[in-house]
Amino acid sequence: MNVYTAIKERRSIRCFEKKDIPQDAVERLIDALLWAPSAGNLQSRKFYFVRDAALKQRLGEEALGQRFLAGAPIVIVACADERAVSKYGPRGTGLYCVQDASISIMGMMLAAHELGLGSVWVGAFSEEGVSGVLDLPSWLRPVAIVPVGYPAETPRAPKRVSSREAVLFL
Ligand SMILES: Cc1cc2nc3c(=O)[nH]c(=O)nc-3n(C[C@H](O)[C@H](O)[C@H](O)COP(=O)(O)O)c2cc1C
Repeated sequence: MNVYTAIKERRSIRCFEKKDIPQDAVERLIDALLWAPSAGNLQSRKFYFVRDAALKQRLGEEALGQRFLAGAPIVIVACADERAVSKYGPRGTGLYCVQDASISIMGMMLAAHELGLGSVWVGAFSEEGVSGVLDLPSWLRPVAIVPVGYPAETPRAPKRVSSREAVLFL
């Protein structure tokens, strides 16, 4: 699939078929996560692939009750690794590792779309709660929860602002 097509066609999917994701597709998703750029190539990010039903349920509860999470075969929790990027000081621990995790997720979401999979970035959650569910070490900060699975809905594209509102040519 053409990258531009993937960028335009991808939609947030919140309803999934009860169908597992084959292992080769899971590996493609992992590849997409790993090959994203990162600050100083320190790759200050970690990803938890959650398949366990009880854990997915608890993640949904910590995501302010967004229970649709648990309907996806895999729920990826992307974490910023503050320890891995500490040599860059506060900019590293406060920003770069969050960006490292985020840019990985975007590439993975596009790769998922190409594979016929749907996903959604879930950002509304209790960091403390998610850290507790996954027993995260203190240096990992959960940045995004991303359920992934075969779409059971075809949402319409929400509007975007015009380029005039968002882009300034100087
Ligand atoms: C930082 C961030 C946080 C988000 N948090 C949530 C969320 O908690 N729950 C949810 O259902 N969607 C969430 N979304 C998805 C947005 O609602 C969605 O991307 C937006 O409405 C545009 O729709 P589209 O992705 O289909 O283009 C989030 C997206 C981003 C980038």
